[in-house]
Amino acid sequence: MDSNLRKILSYTRPYKWWITGNVVSNIFYAFFGMLAMLVLMPMLQILFRVSAEGPASRPEWTGLGHMKEFAQQWMAWKWSIYTSTHTPGQSLTLVIGLVLVIVFLKNLFGYLAMVFATVLRNGILRDIRVDLYDKILRLPLEYFSDRRKGDTIARITSDVYEVQMTSMTVLEMLVRDPMTILFTVGAMWFLNYKLTLFIFVFVPLAGLIISLIGKQLKKSSLAVQRTNSRFLSLVEESLSGIKIIKAFNAEGLFGKKFRAVVNDMFRLTTRMVNRQNLASPLSEFLGVGVIAGIIGYGGHLVLVEKSLSAPVFITFVALAYNVLTPAKNIARAGYAVRRGMASAERVFEIMEADEKIRDKPVAVAKENFEREIRLENVSFRYEADEVLRDVSFRVPKGATVALVGQSGSGKTTIAHLLMRFYDVTGGKITIDGIDIRDIRKRDLRNLMAIVTQESILFNDTVRNNIALAKPDATDEEIIQAAKVANAHDFIMQLPKGYDTNIGDSGNKLSGGQKQRINIARAVLKNPPVMILDEATSALDTESERLVQDALDRLMQGHTSVVIAHRLSTIKNADLIVVMDKGRVVETGSHKELMKRKGIYHKLVMLQSFEVEDE
Ligand SMILES: Nc1ncnc2c1ncn2[C@@H]1O[C@H](COP(=O)(O)OP(=O)(O)O)[C@@H](O)[C@H]1O
Ligand SMILES: [Mg+2]
Repeated sequence: MDSNLRKILSYTRPYKWWITGNVVSNIFYAFFGMLAMLVLMPMLQILFRVSAEGPASRPEWTGLGHMKEFAQQWMAWKWSIYTSTHTPGQSLTLVIGLVLVIVFLKNLFGYLAMVFATVLRNGILRDIRVDLYDKILRLPLEYFSDRRKGDTIARITSDVYEVQMTSMTVLEMLVRDPMTILFTVGAMWFLNYKLTLFIFVFVPLAGLIISLIGKQLKKSSLAVQRTNSRFLSLVEESLSGIKIIKAFNAEGLFGKKFRAVVNDMFRLTTRMVNRQNLASPLSEFLGVGVIAGIIGYGGHLVLVEKSLSAPVFITFVALAYNVLTPAKNIARAGYAVRRGMASAERVFEIMEADEKIRDKPVAVAKENFEREIRLENVSFRYEADEVLRDVSFRVPKGATVALVGQSGSGKTTIAHLLMRFYDVTGGKITIDGIDIRDIRKRDLRNLMAIVTQESILFNDTVRNNIALAKPDATDEEIIQAAKVANAHDFIMQLPKGYDTNIGDSGNKLSGGQKQRINIARAVLKNPPVMILDEATSALDTESERLVQDALDRLMQGHTSVVIAHRLSTIKNADLIVVMDKGRVVETGSHKELMKRKGIYHKLVMLQSFEVEDE
């Protein structure tokens, strides 16, 4: 069995009672469906005035081996007694009543089966999505830089939906349709086994033809889902970059890209659906071929051999037709399953992606920061090129260490490594002598807070954005944090104060305001170590002053690693680490480094010219 199918089936486990309900209901559904056809026979006998030629007396029970004959004779006997003691009108009323009851029961069970199945399929959808979402949150940053966002969105939405549809179809294919076929063929066998045998010559032939087309389907379905990813990526990008698209008059360019994707989608989907739609007409045609054969052979039995009565024969043909629809469904289900498998592949690709940054089984709990953080000969590469080489420095408790250097020299990468967004590829980072790879990830990240250049806010209230790390914070704590971050005053001026929704990624706020909410978040978390990565570089001078002020307060009483683009802000740092092309080239205090007249001196000189220019 396909391993993806097995994984899907494992999601049905919590719903075994619903499955049981579905299976049982479907068995009844199929049974009554067959009976509904079978009652045609007495009806036809009455209408055609074929006398029910039953045995004159109750048939003898001659053992299980002759059960079929016994049942046939017994029913014929009963029916002949009834028809000879009642008028045809009365008999017809009885049969019609029977038909109504049977059809009612058939549909009742059909509906019940759907009720059970609906819980099952929506449950599977929910469970897979939850697992997928949790998994996505566990995946390393690396996973997301390699991939388009839209691709991940497509997988969690439409691919999971496809999988859900498939599991549903599988259930029907495994139970309902085979049961219908089984009961119906059983009834046919009961009526006339010679004619029934006739069918089995055709069935394997039809199956072969259908499976030939199905093979192509999974491939084209994968292609469709891939285009769907591109489509969602593009929509996502366009929405988040709408300002730039407008400003650069790039509507035409994006319109063109979008049309290309949508056209691909059109082409691929059309091809896939056309192929899939072949299933139904093909199996119907094959089925009718079988029926034509039955009519030919059965006609011979009725007209020439006279071994078959017309009502029985017509009932038989009706039953044979009753097999057609489920057979058609099975053929179609085969296709749907292939499509679903293509999606399942994409879903389970995420589920099984390597989480990389994992806790070791013996990971150490670490609640406090006592002495120092140390980088020892750290090297790192994102891809092929080393972006950090042999980096070593020490951050003693309570100190402020500044990282400076040109853009691209690896400063942000160091921040990433400290938070363990990535693992070092050489050397090690230790906290109080313990390698951070041995510390529980949760504990490590509890020891630090990070404020980055681009403020990251969620579409939620100001309060909830601040309380991210501490959802149960009291109002006082939140207000206190906002005050430290210079944010309280502007928050109070928002329409609903702390309960104002700040819009998607905080678009209703200015850059400086967003940044101060970010800082308030770090203040509220209040970890021993603060990492500030160019927190003010995206701001204008006025809000930079407010934010810098907030940062200075944030750093008080904390150990800080500060990455600063404006060197004037780090003059008082205890240690300045100067980076160049992934290496540490100078370390020391501002005074020492200025005296040395090296790279740092040059950087400071460059910036003071800029300041004079302003
Ligand atoms: N996610 C990533 N994948 C591959 N390369 C990256 C990634 N992030 C940064 N880099 C590369 O790593 C180098 C250092 O980047 P970074 O640490 O951001 O520098 P800085 O913060 O000093 O400007 C750069 O050359 C950059 O191109
Ligand atoms: Mg950077």
